Amino acid sequence: MTGPAGEMAAGASIPQPAAEALLEPVAELSAVTEPARARVAVVTGAAGGIGSAICRRLSGDGFAVACFDLREEEAASVASDLPAARGYGVDVRDAASVQAAAGRVRDDLGVPWLLVNAAGVFSIQRITDLDESEWDRILDTNLKGPYLTCREFLPGMVQSAEGAIVNIASTAGVRGGRLRAAYCASKGGLVLLTRSLAIDHGPDGIRVNCLCPGLIDTEMADWIRGDDAALASWAASVPARRMGTPDEIADVVAFLASDGGSYLHGAVLMVDGGGTA
Ligand SMILES: NC(=O)c1ccc[n+]([C@@H]2O[C@H](COP(=O)([O-])OP(=O)(O)OC[C@H]3O[C@@H](n4cnc5c(N)ncnc54)[C@H](O)[C@@H]3O)[C@@H](O)[C@H]2O)c1
Repeated sequence: MTGPAGEMAAGASIPQPAAEALLEPVAELSAVTEPARARVAVVTGAAGGIGSAICRRLSGDGFAVACFDLREEEAASVASDLPAARGYGVDVRDAASVQAAAGRVRDDLGVPWLLVNAAGVFSIQRITDLDESEWDRILDTNLKGPYLTCREFLPGMVQSAEGAIVNIASTAGVRGGRLRAAYCASKGGLVLLTRSLAIDHGPDGIRVNCLCPGLIDTEMADWIRGDDAALASWAASVPARRMGTPDEIADVVAFLASDGGSYLHGAVLMVDGGGTA
């Protein structure tokens, strides 16, 4: 029993609340502490060397990842190793394909908070030897693709007043390169698409940034990976003295998507072992 001042009288038994009263607050508490739904990230080029590393990293950071790739089976295989991830066959050059996949993502996982544009193609030739169809393939994949995905996913981010976009451009987007004019043109366009979208949508609460990888150890680097002498000579010209790894790109994407990157809008981060330094 408690006295007027609230102190317990010696020897008095402690009053026990009814069992229902014990349960009630617990039920309320479980409603409050129910885990928040994971943020959704869409990653294009998810079956590729860099894209798959990004999917794994973002999944590790707690995102539910929608893995987009032209190679549907490979995208599904990347997703199958990750919790709350799904693979989708998508051609980023095709508005209807992007739109259909986006609808499925919203049904399956929810409205995306993060979009990473990593799908890309590369080819080597003189512009005078470049077929119009190859020009279209490069520009449509590397530049029109990000336009179509941004156009698709930005409205949901604007409505939630938050979100982030990370575009994987290239050092070829900030300086010219030998025998790769179309690739450089596409990546240069992507850099300025990034900066312009950052200006338009920063006030909506959306951060748009890009990173420019140097040579990264994926299939896309096969043009030099198979030539030891050329690779050694290239490495000697770079401060890091080596190619980068897909995980090193994924780490920077994760940073750009995190609160650590909260004041980065329209940034063009060179992740190139110092190649453009
Ligand atoms: N590897 C490098 O040295 C390097 C350097 C600078 C920039 N990049 C850029 O990084 C990104 C990823 O390249 P990667 O090295 O992982 O190459 P990768 O070839 O391993 O992966 C590219 C992926 O994009 C997918 N893809 C191609 N066209 C597509 C389309 N129309 N729709 C959907 N998916 C499509 C491919 O199926 C593939 O899975 C690309 O944008 C590339 O330009 C790579």
